Amino acid sequence: MTLRSVVTGVGSYLPKRVLSNQELSRQLDTSDEWIIERTGIRERRIAGKDEKTSDLAIAAAVEALAHAGRDAKDVDLVVVATTTPDLTFPATAARVQAALGIPAGAAFDIQAVCSGFVFALTTADNFLRLEQARCALVIGAETFSRIVDWEDRTTAVLFGDGAGAVVLEAQRGERGVLSTFIRTDGRMHDLLYVDGGPSQTQTTGKVRMSGNAVFRQAVEHISGAMLEACARAGVSIDQVDWFVPHQANQRILDGVARKLGVDVDKVVSTVAQHGNTSAASVPLALDVAVRDGRVKKGDMVLLEALGGGLTWGAVLLRM
Ligand code: ACO
Repeated sequence: MTLRSVVTGVGSYLPKRVLSNQELSRQLDTSDEWIIERTGIRERRIAGKDEKTSDLAIAAAVEALAHAGRDAKDVDLVVVATTTPDLTFPATAARVQAALGIPAGAAFDIQAVCSGFVFALTTADNFLRLEQARCALVIGAETFSRIVDWEDRTTAVLFGDGAGAVVLEAQRGERGVLSTFIRTDGRMHDLLYVDGGPSQTQTTGKVRMSGNAVFRQAVEHISGAMLEACARAGVSIDQVDWFVPHQANQRILDGVARKLGVDVDKVVSTVAQHGNTSAASVPLALDVAVRDGRVKKGDMVLLEALGGGLTWGAVLLRM
């Protein structure tokens, strides 16, 4: 039987502070109506002043380990997808590893912005199938609020903070990751980037985005990635039970569903409550759908995302 990477546990964490559209519209020239109509977002969470990305990641990881019935000592790989690391170095994953008391293996970060979790899952899957690790914690965690320009209404309304995690274990059988597909096109750098960094400006920088152009690229490339992931596994899109997309904008989710003829009831959407939590959004949405009973063991699930880079990709798995 084939060795596959099986999701055996899911977890998530959201900071307590809720920032509603109404509250945002008191500090920015925007409105609840505009934000809901153009994005579907109603509120987002904001990390506390002393709450770091690693704190969010650790909380989500603890929940995922408990859900999987695993201990820290079982884990031999930690991959954290984040664009908002605690520090420029060392990796946020190293902090997570130490805090959880994971005694073995490697821990590193992946930077693919909103596609980060799909890239991290793909990477961990390769480690597991090559038998270079047996039990991985794959985490998406962001304090995106720290790199948002709170005076720019075109981006400030979109983003939020949070973390999601999965425990991924090498097992032989029918369950697990069936196919992965990731891509980057660095020529589209200027559509979505942060205008600071250690080498170029010695600052952290703020998010800059051409929203319209990103929107068009998103629908096109996400649809393509979903079809490619299905083709690689030899399944058709209508055999997929649940779609768990990156939560950027409800209109992107609807646009992709329309383009591929997917029933919108099969698309997990948390964008209204979470906003765009970048690399955290896919595992956060997966956790919500597992815990509310929609996604069950044995279901075929398609994860997808697009983000800065541009980067995009999809992962097809049987839960
Ligand atoms: N409140 C009120 N008005 C606003 C706001 C706001 N928050 N933001 C922009 N506007 C105004 C603009 O200034 C513009 O006014 P004008 O016509 O007088 O010039 C008008 O609204 C329309 O602006 P558009 O940019 O054309 O609005 P659009 O319908 O494209 O929505 C949005 C903008 C929501 C950013 C959309 O383009 C989008 O979601 N793009 C995808 C980008 C994204 O989600 N990126 C996240 C990372 S990548 C990813 O996750 C896929």
